Amino acid sequence: MDYDVKDIKLAEQGKLSVEWAYKSMPVLTLIRKRFAKEKPLKGLRLGACLHVTTETASLMETLKAGGAEVRLCASNPLSTQDYVAAYLVKYHDIPVYAIKGEDTETYYRHIASVLDMKPHMTMDDGADLVSMIHSKRKDLIKGILGGTEETTTGVIRLRAMAKSGVLRFPIIAVNDAQTKYMFDNRYGTGQSTLDGIIRATNRLVAGSVFVICGYGWCSRGLAMRAHGLGANVVVTEIDPLKALEAVMDGYRVMPIAEAAEIGDFFCTLTGNIDVIRREHFVRMKDGAIVSNSGHFNVELDLEGLKGVTRKTRMLREFVEEFTLRSGRRVYVLGEGRLINLAAAEGHPSSVMDMSFANQALSAEYLAKNVKSLKKQVYAVPQDIDREIARLKLAAMGVRIDALTPEQDKYLHSWEMGT
Ligand code: ADE
Repeated sequence: MDYDVKDIKLAEQGKLSVEWAYKSMPVLTLIRKRFAKEKPLKGLRLGACLHVTTETASLMETLKAGGAEVRLCASNPLSTQDYVAAYLVKYHDIPVYAIKGEDTETYYRHIASVLDMKPHMTMDDGADLVSMIHSKRKDLIKGILGGTEETTTGVIRLRAMAKSGVLRFPIIAVNDAQTKYMFDNRYGTGQSTLDGIIRATNRLVAGSVFVICGYGWCSRGLAMRAHGLGANVVVTEIDPLKALEAVMDGYRVMPIAEAAEIGDFFCTLTGNIDVIRREHFVRMKDGAIVSNSGHFNVELDLEGLKGVTRKTRMLREFVEEFTLRSGRRVYVLGEGRLINLAAAEGHPSSVMDMSFANQALSAEYLAKNVKSLKKQVYAVPQDIDREIARLKLAAMGVRIDALTPEQDKYLHSWEMGT
């Protein structure tokens, strides 16, 4: 079997780590058991480009249990857990192409290796499979039923493709399921981003000025958790509604040019390019720590930073020191790549349980409904979303009320009095 991982001998460590992750993934476990009986993906080749983590291993096992033939590559050069890659190869015969720290050329070669399987279905986190298919591997399009997309940035790219009429197969936007973004983006990113920043720097967050660029679901989670650790949170935004929400959530809101002068920590989570630019880096305090937790490292203008830098050195793993011409030092974490996956282990399994339950059920939905789907970006069907919430609550031992018949009638009629 063809594969490319760092060291197959790491498989034992991967096995234990995946066992640990499974303990917090009850919903995906239920789906895996059903898939093993019903085989809803039988005969389908599924190419996946995801962060290669213990949670992703659980998803790959689920898809394989459902009858799919799967291949996996990384959706970010720094997010692979090498022991997980080895585990999937050794214990599940799943061809994995992913090595933590791979260079750009290897990263794209690995995507190409997944596409060489001629997938019927794609599963992306950031739309790299879909964009390579639409640019360099158009020959594959006729065999593809559809795909799924995990993250906000990927959904933005895919909606742009659909809008300009170039998208050639249907996509289910897993990111937009409520059981995904309300939990993974908010609580997952909130916790794992701080985890990454703290593991990389071992700095105290309490009493610091923590600048968060963007105020979408991921940023809200980070702001909440940074505030909880005692930081003085500053938010920058371009959207007046989100900015207003940040103000009313109790944070200071100001332009990045002003925030640049007062921040101790900076973190971008916008999905856009050049959010922190050269003119901001030069205004930062000596010792400012800069990271990104948005999907791509383009949020930081690192070329601009290099242009005003006298020298660089690696101070500790994931911490690069840039000494500017002014003599001030700026520290960039994890090459500006997703800090929660570069320096920590990504979102905890408990939230990935719901995200990946959405992935597995969306793949099943695609397989069953392919004839009725157009070349568009679709939401995850509401009944799937609600079922995942119901199963998660049940697994957590949380019970909720049901409407009384009178309440139900009241909600569905307009004639009843107030
Ligand atoms: N994205 C964020 N955290 C993740 C994780 N733990 N596994 C896979 N994808 C992720």
